[in-house]
Amino acid sequence: MNSKMSNSVSLSELASYFSEDYYHFGDMVNPPETSDQQAGAIWNLLSLAQDSSVLELGCGYGRITNRLAEKGGRVAGLDISPILLKKAEADAAERGVHVEYVLGDMRSLLWRDRFDAVFMWYTTFGYFDDADNERVLREAASSLRKGGRLLIDSANRFAFLRRESPIYLVQRNDDLRIDIMSNDVLSDRRNLERIIVRDGCVRRTQLSFRQYGFSDYVRMLRSAGFETVEAYGQEGGAFTTSSEHLVVIAYK
Ligand SMILES: C[S@@+](CC[C@H](N)C(=O)[O-])C[C@H]1O[C@@H](n2cnc3c(N)ncnc32)[C@H](O)[C@@H]1O
Repeated sequence: MNSKMSNSVSLSELASYFSEDYYHFGDMVNPPETSDQQAGAIWNLLSLAQDSSVLELGCGYGRITNRLAEKGGRVAGLDISPILLKKAEADAAERGVHVEYVLGDMRSLLWRDRFDAVFMWYTTFGYFDDADNERVLREAASSLRKGGRLLIDSANRFAFLRRESPIYLVQRNDDLRIDIMSNDVLSDRRNLERIIVRDGCVRRTQLSFRQYGFSDYVRMLRSAGFETVEAYGQEGGAFTTSSEHLVVIAYK
């Protein structure tokens, strides 16, 4: 484990990780057809319909929000990265859709009893310590109307343990993104060191997130005000130890 990593990601670490470099490699990791498929899965899992109001926390460059708007949702997206939000807005304009993009921190939301659905997709939950992570869930609960749904997509720690290599390489032309991953068994966090080699420059960033199991989610979500909690595997199949992802849906 990298001894510099702590039990919470700081604002400056978030800014350096979710930067233009993150966007630069985005389509190599999630090509447009993958994003189409994921947006379709979210639409079905959250039982969205024309005019459903939906909020994505940590919407990044809008690859999911803009697609949900194309399907007819009334969509809002919140992110802490001004760089990624600008990309999201540009893509929305290109697609001719309206999404309410808001710069902000998911630990403190401005909406109350408003949305039919809120979601965090692609390992966007767990960056902070337990107290702040649970605060995100309470804020999400408050921003949902009664009967609203919260979806959280996270990595399945059991599946990660079976991976043969902790190194993950992404290439775009001559540019490289190298991720070195490790598990911290004492804090139950996954640590990620990222090396970007781009235009002859090398940049290093890091991130970590808490790896909650389903029973942790049930406890935290009930305490945040949700009534029932369900588990699914990647994009809606059954959740098993070999599912790459754990998708949790909670009903307020
Ligand atoms: C792994 S990315 C996922 C982006 C998007 N959900 C997707 O599927 O492409 C996580 C996103 O969460 C955002 N984020 C991290 N911490 C945040 C916070 N405290 N409040 C709002 N957004 C945050 C990052 O800027 C980044 O865009």
